[in-house]
Amino acid sequence: MKTSVGIEALAIAVPRRYIELEDLARARGVDPEKFTIGLGCRRMAVAEPGEDSVALAATAARRLIKTSGLAPERIGMLIVGTETGVDHAKPIASHVQGLLGLPRAMRVYDTTHACYGGTAALHAACEWIASGAARGRAALVVCADIARYGCNTPGEPTQGAGAVALLVSDAPRLLAIDLGISGASSRDVYDFWRPHGRREALVDGHYSIECYLEALAGAYREWRALALAAGLIENGADALPSARLERVLYHVPFGKMARKAHAHLRRVDLEDMRGGRLDAAAEAAEAQAAAQSFARQVASSLRLCAEVGNIYTGSLYLGLAGVLDAEAAALAGRRIGLFSYGSGCCAEFFSGVVGAEAERAIRAARLAETLAARERIDVAEYERIMDLPPDRPLEEEPPPGGFRFAGVREGRRLYVAGPEAPADAARERRGGVAVGAGV
Ligand code: COA
Repeated sequence: MKTSVGIEALAIAVPRRYIELEDLARARGVDPEKFTIGLGCRRMAVAEPGEDSVALAATAARRLIKTSGLAPERIGMLIVGTETGVDHAKPIASHVQGLLGLPRAMRVYDTTHACYGGTAALHAACEWIASGAARGRAALVVCADIARYGCNTPGEPTQGAGAVALLVSDAPRLLAIDLGISGASSRDVYDFWRPHGRREALVDGHYSIECYLEALAGAYREWRALALAAGLIENGADALPSARLERVLYHVPFGKMARKAHAHLRRVDLEDMRGGRLDAAAEAAEAQAAAQSFARQVASSLRLCAEVGNIYTGSLYLGLAGVLDAEAAALAGRRIGLFSYGSGCCAEFFSGVVGAEAERAIRAARLAETLAARERIDVAEYERIMDLPPDRPLEEEPPPGGFRFAGVREGRRLYVAGPEAPADAARERRGGVAVGAGV
């Protein structure tokens, strides 16, 4: 059984437009600091109908294939983690396979459990490779979603959209996953859901925060027991077990959630060590320690999330991209923790070791370039886009190196491909390319 398995490379795709949350706050008559400090949000991606989950997933996957130099014949599995699919039966993954002209001899499917779907896909891919069933091939895992609560709802400032594509292989240059060392926690709850036929999610927001924190405690305790037994971390008097992790990445529905999660994680460690609740003096000391620990262990993972907002399944992996983009060289060879939460609910705490070549691998993803190409819009334009019917995309050219949804004909969704991205000018083709064009 191979033990070195994980993420070899990644790429992201985001909508062309975003709004500043300070603008949204002013338009809604809310103190901007409620959004920027209270929720820890800065900007929010705004997807128009042409930028649906398929277009975002295919764009991220196309970028990943280009920037990683991946030969399509190396791919033996394609899984899309999503909770905003476009069809009850046909998976997004099959659209991606067709749009990218990928080989036919492979498993292709979607995974859904709210924001946990991407992590389910990542672990399925890692275990497929580790089992030997992959026969040396790699898996493409794509997390793609449009987070939509609607205008004038409490969830409005916590929307967003985007996709993260992960190349999963036995050459994990970005992150080698600690296989078999993971804790899961699941329960049948109605904290966030989206009944068939509804475009906007329904959410019991404050209850969803409680469910998230409760699942974090359960999943982390199981991971901690396994990690201690395997000698991945130590249980010494000088530091909490969680402090042995160089960084801890959380699912980020909004930035403040990661701060709440980290404080809760430390409290689980502290209370388990003390065998009970903290007294007043310990509470005061912990408040300060938690803030310092957040700055060291968590803050760098929120950089990209603050630019894009919630992208559901991809949110944890956007956090990973942000950490590696900021400090891959310093983290090479170090262990980080990751917590994935999907409402409904299913959660998993797992860990991995940053690769020695991670800095070079993440540079290839050109993350800053992707974000810099966006356009800021005002609240009136955001509201106009939110009102567009889902099958009426704006009439725009597909982005270079990307795809767009172009409408529905005879019940079938049509997509168009943009020309090659500028960096690949040698192979550039003029104008849009028809559906099914290879990368
Ligand atoms: N300046 C600074 N902070 C302010 C503020 C101001 N003027 N006004 C309020 N705040 C703070 C509040 O104290 C609160 O902080 P706290 O959580 O640390 O106590 C925070 O801003 C949010 O305020 P709150 O009144 O709780 O917001 P809300 O009721 O409008 O809803 C959510 C917040 C997150 C519940 C809502 O956006 C939501 O439902 N989002 C979608 C669901 C979700 O993301 N769930 C997460 C788990 S997956």
